[in-house]
This record gives sequence, structure tokens and C-alpha cells, in this order.
Amino acid sequence: AIDSNFEQSREKVGEEDGVAVWGPVEPPEKQGIRGTHVAVDFDICLADGACLEDCPVDVFEWVDTPGHPESERKASPVDEDQCIDCMLCVDVCPVDAIDVDPG
Ligand code: SF4
Ligand code: F3S
Repeated sequence: AIDSNFEQSREKVGEEDGVAVWGPVEPPEKQGIRGTHVAVDFDICLADGACLEDCPVDVFEWVDTPGHPESERKASPVDEDQCIDCMLCVDVCPVDAIDVDPG
């Protein structure tokens, strides 16, 4: 599961599509965690897609990660500032790749 303490345990190494990137990032195998309020561990995500389907405000978009061992695309929380903290994505992700920090 994603480390909900990532803001302390990891370093912010940049931004992609306006979303924070928390390292380590060593493409293609290591993609890090994306997002802050809504965070997705790209190294755990296996492109199930439930988060994209179920989020009521469409926070997520697919981004391609060719060569990653788990999946060749990931759910990036590009519109995390729209999140209404319903926690649905956290509940439906089969591999606990998502952390939402209300408040
Ligand atoms: Fe979307 Fe709800 Fe997840 Fe926020 S907590 S990203 S609103 S599904
Ligand atoms: Fe990935 Fe979980 Fe969404 S596997 S696509 S973060 S439901």
C-alpha cells in the first residue's frame, strides 16, 4: 500500500502535468508518487481504472508509463484540487495505491 507518510519520508523531485512528483524516480521502473492531497503511488498502480470510473469529479487522467513492470499507464490525480474527499477512490483501488488526506 501507499505510504501515507510520504510527504515526510520522500522528497519532492518535480512536477508533471501540474502534479507533484515524490521520488525516487528512475524511469521506467521507478515512477514515484504523484500528487499531494490526492496521491497515487505509480509503482503500486496496476491500471485497474476503478478510480477513473468512480471519482465523481474526474480527478484522474491516464498517463503513459511505458516499460513500468506493473502497468504501462497510471492514474494521475491531475485535478486533485477538485477533490471533495468522498474517499471512493481509496476504497475501490484493489492495490491501495491511493492516499487522500482530507483537510
Ligand atoms: Fe475523487 Fe473522491 Fe477520490 Fe477525491 S476522494 S479523488 S473526489 S474519488
Ligand atoms: Fe491504479 Fe488503483 Fe486507480 S490500480 S488506476 S490507482 S484504482
